Amino acid sequence: MENQAAERKKIVFSGIQPSGQITLGNYLGAVRNWKQLQEEYNCIYSIVNMHAITVRQDPAELKKRTLEAYALILACGIDPEKSIAFIQSHVKEHAEINWVLACYTQFGELSRMTQFKDKSQKNPDNINAGLFTYPVLMAGDILLYQTDLVPVGIDQKQHLELARDIAIRFNGQRGNTFVVPDGYIPKAGAKIMSLADPTKKMSKSDPNPRGCVYILDPPETIIKKFKSAVTDSDMEVCYREGKDGINNLMTIYSCVTGKTYEEIEEEFKGKGYGDFKLAVGTAVAEHLAPIREKYNALMADKAYLEKCYTEGAEKASRIARRTLEKVYKKVGFLPK
Ligand code: TRP
Repeated sequence: MENQAAERKKIVFSGIQPSGQITLGNYLGAVRNWKQLQEEYNCIYSIVNMHAITVRQDPAELKKRTLEAYALILACGIDPEKSIAFIQSHVKEHAEINWVLACYTQFGELSRMTQFKDKSQKNPDNINAGLFTYPVLMAGDILLYQTDLVPVGIDQKQHLELARDIAIRFNGQRGNTFVVPDGYIPKAGAKIMSLADPTKKMSKSDPNPRGCVYILDPPETIIKKFKSAVTDSDMEVCYREGKDGINNLMTIYSCVTGKTYEEIEEEFKGKGYGDFKLAVGTAVAEHLAPIREKYNALMADKAYLEKCYTEGAEKASRIARRTLEKVYKKVGFLPK
């Protein structure tokens, strides 16, 4: 019985791009949940470096960031024994399934993707075909592993919908092949806003460098950024419509301390915003300190990292290969 239950454990897949550092927003919105999901599901996590080249990358920088991103997810608590953690380009099935799925995706569907429209507006000199077919590559990532659940932020919801549509279409035309994945949008802390402009999502491209906290920022930097966080002109620490800055700080504080909004309101009753901002900054710095230490230790042991990502790719490839073989058979590719 127990064995059967273990066999039916759901599969979780998610990916993160190696584009610079992981922000506090990425961490609280995504990577932290990845760690918790490991206890309940069979989790597969990938550094999606193939997605990264849809925009111009400096090759040396991409290589460096890929390893750093890998070390960082381990530092955030992804356990390479419990989960599969790998680098996308190491598992060539991702490139292979991409072609087949592209032939099961409509031009019109891809044209409707809002991220494509945004990104092509931002990079008018490099609207490459990869940028356009990016959601197909992402669908392949998910479908290769017969994924049940995909933890993603709200910005990836449209891509996930497309992955579902592709799976349903392929299953309908070629017979049952793929599990149709569901999204897993975490309850709390799904969206962390910029400290400098709390109406915008926290992002690496924030025009104000103080708006974005990175999980490897030293404690002094973190505290400084929180001290300069934009709030509002009344004086009350409470969660209310229109208090975007305070709401954001309360969300962050609640995420790192586990306190409820009521408890936070109680704690800061009669105190000023200065005290509150300092408390949030300090709590975040304390929460992130062990991650930073672990990251530094991992980066000092390249051989261990190499062993982890090599084994991760082998495990991932074993699963991906089975799906790819099934797909090749279904579309009528002559076996060699
Ligand atoms: N497109 C995702 C992002 O930019 C990253 C990603 C690639 C992904 N493949 C995935 C996320 C598969 C979930 C599942 O955030």
